[in-house]
Amino acid sequence: MPQKFNDLSWKPNGVPVSRRFDDPYYSLDNGLDETTHVFLTGNGLPERFYDGFSIGELGFGTGLNFLATLKLWQDSGQKGCLEYISFEAFPLEKNELLRAHAAFPVLVSVSELLVGSWDALKQSGVVQIENIRLTLVRGDARKTLPQWQGLCDCWYLDGFSPAKNPELWEPELMKSVAEKSKQGGTLATYSAASFVRQNLADAGFSVSRVKGFGRKKHMTTAVMDRHNAG
Ligand SMILES: C[S@@+](CC[C@H](N)C(=O)[O-])C[C@H]1O[C@@H](n2cnc3c(N)ncnc32)[C@H](O)[C@@H]1O
Repeated sequence: MPQKFNDLSWKPNGVPVSRRFDDPYYSLDNGLDETTHVFLTGNGLPERFYDGFSIGELGFGTGLNFLATLKLWQDSGQKGCLEYISFEAFPLEKNELLRAHAAFPVLVSVSELLVGSWDALKQSGVVQIENIRLTLVRGDARKTLPQWQGLCDCWYLDGFSPAKNPELWEPELMKSVAEKSKQGGTLATYSAASFVRQNLADAGFSVSRVKGFGRKKHMTTAVMDRHNAG
């Protein structure tokens, strides 16, 4: 029998685990709090929002980061449009999204919006959800990101752990993230692996190790300052 792409198993608390990568999609403790701490606060959101703000993401997964961002955009009262571009090799099925989102009642209304657009998004690659334009670039990010034309205000680096999914943290890919970052653009990731920080520094980012979420002591944030780049 052909192997299904995303062979998920589920923790009792509703967190999906990838069998392919042998890693959970997000924190087993509280995925939404982790997303807020790492990706939103780590990138200075919502304070940096403006009409036209653009976010890039490596690893769409269940869309938890997207849902948290959409809700933050709504709650912030920010006018205008947000661009959200996510790179994903193995998109999940609609029922898998629904099952994962069920653990986060506060996201129910934004989950309905995403799930309602999921077929169209998978088919056409881009949908408008309220005033967010969501683009899903399918395929291996190492191939698709260098070809993508655009610049982001911030990045969510959310591959599986570098030990389990090293290809999503490779030096060449980090260089592509740097090339696709605006001057002053930022990134955040839950990982504090030294080779990840080194790859980001080599790509031209000013890298900081800051307090991590929950039991994780550290995580990484970085700023693209081309004026300081050697
Ligand atoms: C930790 S999960 C992302 C969690 C996600 N942000 C969420 O909110 O649920 C990592 C994601 O990276 C994807 N991925 C792994 N290797 C990839 C690659 N080479 N290119 C693109 N996506 C990849 C996986 O399929 C998975 O969806």
